[in-house]
Amino acid sequence: MEVPRRPEIFDFHGVSMINVITDNWDNVQNFKARPDDILIATYPKAGTTWISYILDLLYFENMDPDRQTSIPLHERVAFLEISVPSQPSDKLPTTPRLIKTHLPVQFVPKSFWEQRCRVVYMARNAKDNVVSYFHFYRMNGALPEPGDWSTFLQDFMEGKRVYGSWYDHVNGWWEKKETYSDFHYMFYEDLIEDCGRELDRLCSFLGLSPSPEEKERIRASVTFDSMKQNKMTNYTTAHKLNHEVSPFMRKGKVGDWKNHFTVAQNEQFDEDYKKKMKNPDLKFRCEI
Ligand code: A3P
Repeated sequence: MEVPRRPEIFDFHGVSMINVITDNWDNVQNFKARPDDILIATYPKAGTTWISYILDLLYFENMDPDRQTSIPLHERVAFLEISVPSQPSDKLPTTPRLIKTHLPVQFVPKSFWEQRCRVVYMARNAKDNVVSYFHFYRMNGALPEPGDWSTFLQDFMEGKRVYGSWYDHVNGWWEKKETYSDFHYMFYEDLIEDCGRELDRLCSFLGLSPSPEEKERIRASVTFDSMKQNKMTNYTTAHKLNHEVSPFMRKGKVGDWKNHFTVAQNEQFDEDYKKKMKNPDLKFRCEI
């Protein structure tokens, strides 16, 4: 059987992209957000699925039990740059619509800002992020060739992986925080460290007040092990993903980068990182 070819990467307005995203560009840019839409924004592999599931449970756990047991999470949360124009969440006329995107901030359709939609951004330290992305590239035939680990790492540092520079992404979204108040910037490492605390912060941003029992139930449902067991959240129902190469729910840890970076790679990475990450307010933890 012929193995389908992986897509080529190319520069699109200064950001590395693939056709499946840019073919849709006008539809994405003309997307009509509603004021109660919630936009979940991340660089790929920063914990998109995790925060999506948390939001889905916060809004819909009590309203629709079937949703939790029979609709995979990736069908409940629309993928902006992939699902449009087939109308995000059209099968699920829910309110609020949960919409995820990996777009850098400058590419987000303007109606999200005009409608004052709430935005939740989740960021993950660059070292664990690139390791996770490497394994995801390996298991996802819809992405370009990963190459070997050292090539992948080098390309990541140069912004040549899909969605471009991690450094520009986390910084661009961080700067948005200064001018757009309906915005909550979260860190993967904080969620690992204390999920309950982060849930409280998120609820306070969203104006939600779940009972202690609900919060505890959600906390238990969103652990790595529960989500890995759960067919609705572990992506085993998605096409093009080969979990034998690497499972989608892979490790879910802070610090796995230490099993991948050589000492020399780490030194080079740190050196380069210092040059690119100049904002003293935006700090990441590579271990906790
Ligand atoms: P690893 O590859 O390091 O295991 P995304 O959803 O943005 O694609 O991110 C996927 C990454 O988030 C994977 O990282 C995955 O294991 C991790 N992840 C997903 N759910 C998680 C959870 N409940 N707890 C910790 N990590 C989680």
